[in-house]
Amino acid sequence: MNNQQWTQRDLGVVWHPCTQMKDHEQLPLIPIRRGEGIWLEDFEGRRYLDAISSWWVNLFGHANPRINAAIGKQLNEIEHVLLAGFSHEAVIRLSEQLVEITPPGLSRCFYADNGSSAIEVALKMSFHYWRNVGKPRKTRFISLTNSYHGETLGALAVGDVALYKETYCPLLMDVITVPSPDCFSREKGESEADYCRRQFVHMERALERYAEETCAVIVEPLVQCAGNMRMYDPVYLSLLREACDRFGVHLIADEIAVGFGRTGTFFACEQAEITPDFLCLSKGLTGGYLPLAVVLTTEPVYQAFYDDYSTLRAFLHSHSFTANPVGCSAALATLDIFKEDRVLENNRLLAKKMQEVTDHFVDHPHVAEVRQHGMILAIEMVKDKASREPYPWQERRGLRVYQHGLQKGMLLRPLGNVVYFMPPYVITPEQITDLAEVAWEGIGLATRD
Ligand SMILES: Cc1ncc(COP(=O)(O)O)c(C=O)c1O
Repeated sequence: MNNQQWTQRDLGVVWHPCTQMKDHEQLPLIPIRRGEGIWLEDFEGRRYLDAISSWWVNLFGHANPRINAAIGKQLNEIEHVLLAGFSHEAVIRLSEQLVEITPPGLSRCFYADNGSSAIEVALKMSFHYWRNVGKPRKTRFISLTNSYHGETLGALAVGDVALYKETYCPLLMDVITVPSPDCFSREKGESEADYCRRQFVHMERALERYAEETCAVIVEPLVQCAGNMRMYDPVYLSLLREACDRFGVHLIADEIAVGFGRTGTFFACEQAEITPDFLCLSKGLTGGYLPLAVVLTTEPVYQAFYDDYSTLRAFLHSHSFTANPVGCSAALATLDIFKEDRVLENNRLLAKKMQEVTDHFVDHPHVAEVRQHGMILAIEMVKDKASREPYPWQERRGLRVYQHGLQKGMLLRPLGNVVYFMPPYVITPEQITDLAEVAWEGIGLATRD
C-alpha cells in the first residue's frame, strides 16, 4: 500500500485533531510507516525531519532503543493495573525520582494521562484545598492573556487562545485574565526584565482585587508555546511567586510543554529559583512515547486532604489509566538518558547553533523578531516590519512554510505567522543548519507577495 491508498482509507474514517478536515482536499495527509531518531518515514520511503518533536513531545528520537527496551521489559511484567488500592514498581520509582529532580518542596505525585487532564487535576486540587482549609469563597482562577493549557473545559477556560476557546465560551467558567508579560510587546530598547516588571503591575492589581476569591494563578513558565511561542523573563516568575505567597493564592506552573530541558534548564521554574504549589508535567515526561501526566504538589496541600474517610476531604479524582506502568517505564528510561548522557550540556551547544544559524533572519524584511529560550527558537513573520502589523490569519502564511518544509523533507508546523524549531535533542548541528536553510527559504516564499 502506498501513501495515497493509506490516505484514502484514513480520510474515510479518521477525524484528525486541530484540523479543518476539508483542508485535506488540497493538503496531503502524510501517513507514517516508521520513525528512527529525528526522522519520520512515510509509506513510500520519503523522510521528514521532525523539527517540532511531534507536537513537542519527543526528546530522544523516534524508536529510541533504550526507551524501547524499557517498555518491552515492562510489558513482560505488567502492562496495566489500577492505581487505587494497588501500586507498581515503575510508579514508585518514577515518583521518587520526580520528587528528587523537581524544585524543592514538591513531595507528592498525582498522575493523569495527558496534559489537559493534569491541568484539571491542579485546578480541582487547588480549589478543593481551599475548601478543606475553610476558605470556600475561593472559587476562581487567574491566568494570562495568550496562555494555553489544553482543550478540556477547565483547561480551555484558563487558556486564552481565541482560535481554540471562543466557540466554547458559553460552556466555560469565568476566569480573571491578566495581561501577559509576552516580551514581543515591549518598547524598543526596553529590556525583557524591565518589561516583565512593568507588566507585573497588572498581576499585582488583580491579586489585590481578587485574592479573597482566587484559588490559584496559572502560568506557562517562560514560554507561551501554543500562544505563538511568545516568551518572557524569569523575573516575572520570581515576582509572581512572592506575590502569590503574600496574597495567599496558589501558583500552578504548567510545564507540560517547557519541562524536561526545553528552555535550557531541566524545569523552567529553576531559572527563577521558585517552587510552584502545583507543577504539571506531561509530553516529554515519557520522552514523547506514551500518554502520561503528573501533577506534583507540596506536603501542606497533601496534608489538607489527609483525614478520616468520613470527613469527605479526599481527592476522589481518577482516570482509568492513571500512572500506566508502561508509560512510567518509558519515563524512567527517559530520566536515565538525562542522567547518563549530559543532555542539558549538549543542548547548550545545540541551542547556540540554532541561534547562530538564524542570526541573520532578523534582517529579513518580513521578520520582526527571532527569540529563543534554550531549545525553543521562534521566528515571527510580520506584514509590516516597522509597525509590526501581523499578516491577517486568513492568509495562512505559516501554512506555506509548512508546505515548503514538507517538499524539502522537514516537518515544520508554524503557529500562525510564527515559524519555530523545537526539535528532539538528538538533532545534529548539521541538521540544524539544514533546518534553518529550509525555514529561510520557506519564509521567503511565504512573504513574497
Ligand atoms: C502548556 C500546555 N499545557 C497543556 C497542554 C495540553 O496537553 P495535552 O495536549 O496533552 O492535553 C499543552 C499542549 O500542547 C500545552 O502546551
